[in-house]
Amino acid sequence: MTEDRMTTMFFEMFTGLPRQGPGDTASTLRALSLVPGIGPHTRVLNPGGGTGLEARVIAQNAPVRIVAIDNHQQYVEEFNREAEALAVAHRVEAQLGDMHRLDFEPGSFDLIWCEGSIYVVGFEKGLRDWHRLLAPGGHLALTDVCWRMPNPPAECREFWAQEYPAIRDVPSRLRTITECGYEVIGHFPLPAAAWWDDYYGPLQQKITEFRAHHDGETDAQQLADSVQSEIDMWHKYSHSYGYDFFVMRRD
Ligand SMILES: C[S@@+](CC[C@H](N)C(=O)[O-])C[C@H]1O[C@@H](n2cnc3c(N)ncnc32)[C@H](O)[C@@H]1O
Repeated sequence: MTEDRMTTMFFEMFTGLPRQGPGDTASTLRALSLVPGIGPHTRVLNPGGGTGLEARVIAQNAPVRIVAIDNHQQYVEEFNREAEALAVAHRVEAQLGDMHRLDFEPGSFDLIWCEGSIYVVGFEKGLRDWHRLLAPGGHLALTDVCWRMPNPPAECREFWAQEYPAIRDVPSRLRTITECGYEVIGHFPLPAAAWWDDYYGPLQQKITEFRAHHDGETDAQQLADSVQSEIDMWHKYSHSYGYDFFVMRRD
């Protein structure tokens, strides 16, 4: 499969979903309630913001200004269309950009909000790089997938060794947060519904449509198999891993 065809098919599969990773509105609002002093002056950076569901939830519940960065043009366009539709585009905007090169002045933001995207740069590297982008006392809220048990089943461990070898448990993440110069304000697991309602449920439907659309195309069916195996893994082993929200304050 050429890289172009792979990319095109990947986005065919993942475009049109309510969100591009696990998450839910109640958890976004719970994490937001942990951040003190939010107001019209609050400057928010939303790296890997996707099509913007988390940004819209924040914007509808707090009078902040949000700049989101994503490297997929179609997501950026959808993000900005939805912000227009909600009449928040004057303070919520997505820009095409690379999370590896966030060229903002030091202290440009009071809050960095990153649901399901810190894996792109790596948990520790993200924490260290983004520290300088926050004003002193600024906050960082993020979600990441974490082990829920000390010895996950071998099949599950092997799957995550391929997908996200940097997966850790919550105590390990909490230590890293402290080592990177932040104070933990709060953390909590996302409910199972955060995987299914807006993500795996709609994605399961997309897989069925994608398979029919690419009937007889071996490479496309292999892509569908691989996405399906991630969902199957979750059905089988979701007690072993899950997403957690971490809210922290920089020193
Ligand atoms: C798992 S999705 C999460 C999206 C969104 N936060 C959500 O929860 O729905 C990861 C996002 O990171 C974006 N992304 C991947 N690599 C990137 C990079 N190098 N720079 C900027 N965005 C990137 C993807 O386009 C995608 O929107």
